[in-house]
Formats: sequence, structure tokens, C-alpha cells
Amino acid sequence: MKHAQTTAAVLRYALTALGAALLCACGGNAASAASDPAATTPTAQTTPSGGDQLVRGRYLAHAADCAACHTAENGAPFAGGVALASPFGTLYGTNITPDKEHGIGKWTADDFYKALHDGIGPDGPLYPAMPYTSYRQLTRADTDAIYAYLMSVKPAAVANHPNDLRFPYNMRFGVRFWNMIFLKDSLPDASQGKSEEWLRGRYLVNALGHCAECHTARGSLGQLDGSSPLAGGALGRINAPDITPAGLAARGWTADDLQAFLATGIARQGSAFGEMYPVIHLSTQYMTPDDVHDMAVYLLGDQAPSPQPLPAPADNAQLETGHKLYIATCAGCHGMTGEGKPHVAVAMLGNSTARQKDPHNLLVAILDGIEAQDFPGNESMQHMPGFAKILSDDEIAQLANYLRAQNGQPADVTATAVHALKQ
Ligand code: HEC
Ligand code: HEC
Ligand code: HEC
Repeated sequence: MKHAQTTAAVLRYALTALGAALLCACGGNAASAASDPAATTPTAQTTPSGGDQLVRGRYLAHAADCAACHTAENGAPFAGGVALASPFGTLYGTNITPDKEHGIGKWTADDFYKALHDGIGPDGPLYPAMPYTSYRQLTRADTDAIYAYLMSVKPAAVANHPNDLRFPYNMRFGVRFWNMIFLKDSLPDASQGKSEEWLRGRYLVNALGHCAECHTARGSLGQLDGSSPLAGGALGRINAPDITPAGLAARGWTADDLQAFLATGIARQGSAFGEMYPVIHLSTQYMTPDDVHDMAVYLLGDQAPSPQPLPAPADNAQLETGHKLYIATCAGCHGMTGEGKPHVAVAMLGNSTARQKDPHNLLVAILDGIEAQDFPGNESMQHMPGFAKILSDDEIAQLANYLRAQNGQPADVTATAVHALKQ
């Protein structure tokens, strides 16, 4: 289920973009498209040294999270069939096993490179739900390694599920116009650096990890907003937070915490949930400690800003109702003072979700709850119930205000804001 959630959000953006591009093309604006001539200079060394091409290819396929969209739950690896639901219809991740009839068995390494680098398949342009906007920055050596690895997996004779998109989103050619305008050779950096770690981290984050596809906001035509890279993006239900150096430091993140989070899904600041969970589960947990380290260096920059300490706990009569509600409904799992309980639930004091300026994710987590999740290293977190039907809008607002005040944010959540997020 988590797969579907992840991809649905990515897809919604891609299709919004496509719809916009079609309108744009019909309006004749495509002629003004300016393409970015800047050549990418990714660091060549992207995987642990010493591995042969297949081992490298397998590692890279993990780092790029191909399975998220190409391996269906209970399906053969890379045989496709992952349904990507969207308001515009449904797309299906395709069969990328070496099956000659249904998969990519007849593809050459050049064909494969063209799909990842240009978003062009045998039937014309691919929908940008396939994140070639990011993969475009992959080196030829790396796409060749991924190709070699995919050619070595078991062919699966599974037919592709036809896409079921409504007009005008079913007009594949429209993507060409979008590509003309928005497909760039590199993505802007959110941090600054020039160390080897930073350069390698940039390649891992921007090209392979395609982190920007969720963490960068979209412009009016669905394109990644180049002026605010990694500064946060709205997704289906849980938003992708600001992961720029300033945003991370404001919520207390250090490079060590980020490494722990990407490697295990759990850090002092909380655990991965929503669409971040599959990223850890299917991708970053498989990466080497060096690579995870370099990603953290890239996210924070060579000169990492100091993590901001938590302000003194707020003690205010107005927060008393929220405090009581917390003790009655949350403390059993999250601890009396929000200190968390190992193997049960994460801390609320210093929790990065509660420390966000925008209360959106905090409110959605309280309203919807979070299903039980397994984490690397035999760690697991139990199910957190949703409180939408248990607490009133006003109670949830008071509770959220108590948690926000504890975490240095203004107690400004209203019952109306809570109500608006109910589904
Ligand atoms: C976020 C979801 C997503 C991720 C991640 C993703 N893909 Fe895709 N991919 C898709 C979708 C959706 C399509 C079909 C697009 C269409 O119908 O135009 C596709 C199409 C393709 C195709 C064209 C296949 C064909 O038969 O036309 C290839 C090749 C491919 N992907 C390879 C990869 C590889 C390799 C990776 C990892 C490096 C990857 N994809 C990661 C969603 C994804
Ligand atoms: C039955 C135990 C339980 C109860 C009761 C509970 N939670 Fe949770 N909560 C969890 C677990 C476990 C997680 C982590 C889930 C995961 O990531 O898999 C979590 C996560 C969260 C998160 C997301 C933060 C993060 O970093 O993962 C927030 C916010 C949150 N809880 C708030 C609350 C509030 C407010 C209450 C009281 C209304 C509450 N919880 C009651 C178990 C509980
Ligand atoms: C499919 C969408 C998606 C992709 C791709 C994605 N993220 Fe996330 N990310 C999220 C969402 C949603 C959250 C908020 C939930 C949470 O904190 O776990 C999040 C949270 C995070 C956080 C925690 C921030 C905080 O303060 O709580 C970090 C760090 C992070 N992502 C880093 C990354 C990196 C690095 C990559 C690329 C390897 C990445 N993300 C790729 C959706 C995504």
C-alpha cells in the first residue's frame, strides 16, 4: 500500500505538469522554451569500489529506487504492474525485466540510456512519472551498470497493464513540449560545498535518490521550482518537509542524525512515515555508510549550520488543556514528558514534525495515525491510532498547540484548520 501512496503523489505532479504542458503547447507558448545548455559534471565514482558491473548495477538500482514503481507487491522483481493512481487516471509501472516480449529484453544499452536520460521510450516520450528529470544526471557508466543488472534478473512474461488516463492526459506527445521547457541537465543546489563528499552526495541525492521530486515545490506548470530547491513540497497527505541546510538546522538535525535517519529510518528527531517510509525501506537502507554520510554532507553543505537547540519548555495556562489531553491520549506511547519509548514510539520533545513551522504534518499524523512499520535492524514501531474520530477539532488544535509550544513553534493552530484537514 505504501508503494501506491508514494508513486501516486509523484504521479499526480507529473500529470499536472503534462496537462499544463498540453495547454501550453496548444497556446503556442512552447516556442519560447529555453533549454539549459549547462553540462552536468557528476562525480564518476558512485558506488563502492571493487565491485563488478552487476554488483554495482544492483546497488545503483537500489539507490535509485527503481523497485518503488516497477516491482508490484507480491509480483516478480521489476515485472511492473504497480498501479499509480491519480486524479487523471491510472498509470502502471512497466515490466523492465529482460523478457523479450513484455519487458526490455530487446533493448540496447543505448535505448535504455535514452529512456533514463531523455525520457524517450520506443513508443515516444515517457510520462514524467518516471523520474527522468532527476535520472538525466546519471553518468553513462551508471546507466550501463543498471542496464547490465536488469538484463541479469529473471525475465518475467508479465504483460504491461495499459495506462488508463483520461483526455488530454492520454496524449503522450504532449510530454515533448513539457520536456522542451523543463527538462534540465542539472538541478540547482540547496547547499554549498566543493569537497569530494559534497560532490558525491550531490550525485546521490539529486540524480540517483531523486529526492527533489518530492522535496522541491512545483511551479504552476508542474516543473520543479528552481528557486527553492529541497525547500519542501506538498504531496498527497503528508508533505515533504524543507530539507535545506537552514530548514534542517532549525529542526535540530546534525549530519549524524541524518545518517541515522537515512540508514535506519529512525533518529532523535523521529521516524520516517508517509511517503518517506518506502524511500528508506526500499532504497537508502541499502546504501553504504560512506554514501549515506556523503548524502548528509550534501544536505547540510560543507559548512553545516549549527543545529538549533530546543527553547525552554513553554509553561502557559492556555496550554493546560492541551497538556492534559497529551497525558490522557498520547503519553502512554510517547512518554509523560514526550521523551519517547524505545521500540514503542518516537519522542515528541524535539520531534522534527512538531518543530515544523507549518503544522500540516503534525495535524495529519494526529488525525490519520500511522500504521505499524518495520525498520532496518529488526526494529519496529507499533501502530499509532488516528484521532480524527476520537478527539474533537478543538481538542486536536489544543493538543497540537501544546506540542508546538513545547517545540518552539507558536501555538496558533485553530479548530478550523484542523477541520479543513479532515478527510
Ligand atoms: C516514481 C516512479 C518510478 C521510478 C522510481 C522509476 N520508474 Fe521507470 N517508469 C515509471 C513509469 C510510470 C513508467 C511508464 C511511463 C509511461 O507509461 O510513459 C516507467 C517507464 C520506464 C521504462 C520504459 C519501459 C518501457 O517499456 O517503455 C524504463 C526502461 C524504466 N522505467 C526504467 C526505470 C529504472 C531503471 C528505474 C530506476 C533507475 C526506474 N525506472 C524508476 C515509473 C518509475
Ligand atoms: C499506541 C501508541 C501511540 C499513541 C497512543 C500515540 N502515538 Fe504517536 N506515534 C506512535 C508511533 C509508534 C509513531 C511512529 C510511527 C512510525 O514511524 O512507524 C508515532 C508517531 C507520531 C508522530 C509522527 C512523528 C514522527 O516523527 O514519527 C506524531 C506527530 C505523533 N505520533 C503524535 C501523537 C499524538 C499527538 C498522540 C496523542 C493524540 C499520539 N501520537 C498517540 C505511537 C503512538
Ligand atoms: C516519494 C516522496 C519522497 C522522496 C522521493 C523523498 N522523500 Fe524525504 N520525505 C518525504 C516525506 C513525505 C517526508 C515527511 C515524513 C517524515 O518525516 O518521514 C520526508 C521526510 C524526510 C526527512 C525528515 C525531515 C524531518 O525534519 O522530519 C529527511 C531528512 C528526508 N526526507 C530526506 C530525503 C532524502 C535525502 C531523499 C532522497 C534520497 C528523500 N527524502 C526522498 C517524501 C519523500
